[in-house]
Amino acid sequence: KLVEGPDNQQKVLLQSSEGGSVEVFLHGAHVTSWKSNKGEELLFMSNKAIYAPPKAIRGGIPICFPQFGVLGPLGQHGFARNSVFDVSQGSSDSVTLSFRPSTEQQKQFPHQFHLLITVKVGSDSLTQTLEVKNEGRESMPFTTAFHTYFLVSDVDRAHVDLGSEGLTYQDNTKGRAESTLSGSHVQFQQEFDAIFVGAPDTIKVVDEKNGRKISVKKQGLPDAVLWNPWGDKANGMADMGHDQYKNFLCVEPAVAASGPINLPSGQSWSGTQILSLDS
Ligand code: BG6
Repeated sequence: KLVEGPDNQQKVLLQSSEGGSVEVFLHGAHVTSWKSNKGEELLFMSNKAIYAPPKAIRGGIPICFPQFGVLGPLGQHGFARNSVFDVSQGSSDSVTLSFRPSTEQQKQFPHQFHLLITVKVGSDSLTQTLEVKNEGRESMPFTTAFHTYFLVSDVDRAHVDLGSEGLTYQDNTKGRAESTLSGSHVQFQQEFDAIFVGAPDTIKVVDEKNGRKISVKKQGLPDAVLWNPWGDKANGMADMGHDQYKNFLCVEPAVAASGPINLPSGQSWSGTQILSLDS
């Protein structure tokens, strides 16, 4: 079902037979809400988010493509999240959105490609797949991420469980210097911005305050980025409400520092994340 959301932007509403629901904006193929079977919101949205392009929507699940972060010549996180997609196909619980770069975008990124984002809501689960076909003659380099903002009651009482001890990461707050995690959890206590290269394929987001656990499973996406900007940075963002940084943490299944992928002409590639609420 297609309806009009804030800033005159169109969004698709998906509903699972068990009661869960998802909202996806055509702007950026951007998921802005995922609700459990019981109707609880599981994703964070900024109360100052701007829904109209060209700026990306703050919160939910931005799609970073064809570039993650500043790992390439394009603007941060590429242009897909700033562009409006078309509906390719849909049903009550799933939708596929489609995007091809404009002539203007091909001047910055000289490749023709077809990007398809499929979002499906299940019983306390959300499955999201990114498929890209290189429709140009040259091979196409890209990096990508599902930049998921999880809603937490209080970041001081939440953590990310990577399921494996002593992982190393590239610290984006220190020029990508390599650091080692002590233990298997990340507890956010200040700005944290890290690329875990070759991260485990199941990562858990644990909200200690309300006892909620969400599993993030990734397929075809070797890396995971963990991020919270903390107060000074977040409060300086025009599209983030005051002290809202306390209510989210990002876990981003990605092809980041393991990339870029060089997709040969005519070939396709796909990556998936599956989010599920542990009962
Ligand atoms: C994260 C990056 O993925 O996204 C951070 O690792 C960045 O460095 C953050 O600040 C948010 O990016 P943006 O462009 O949405 O403000």
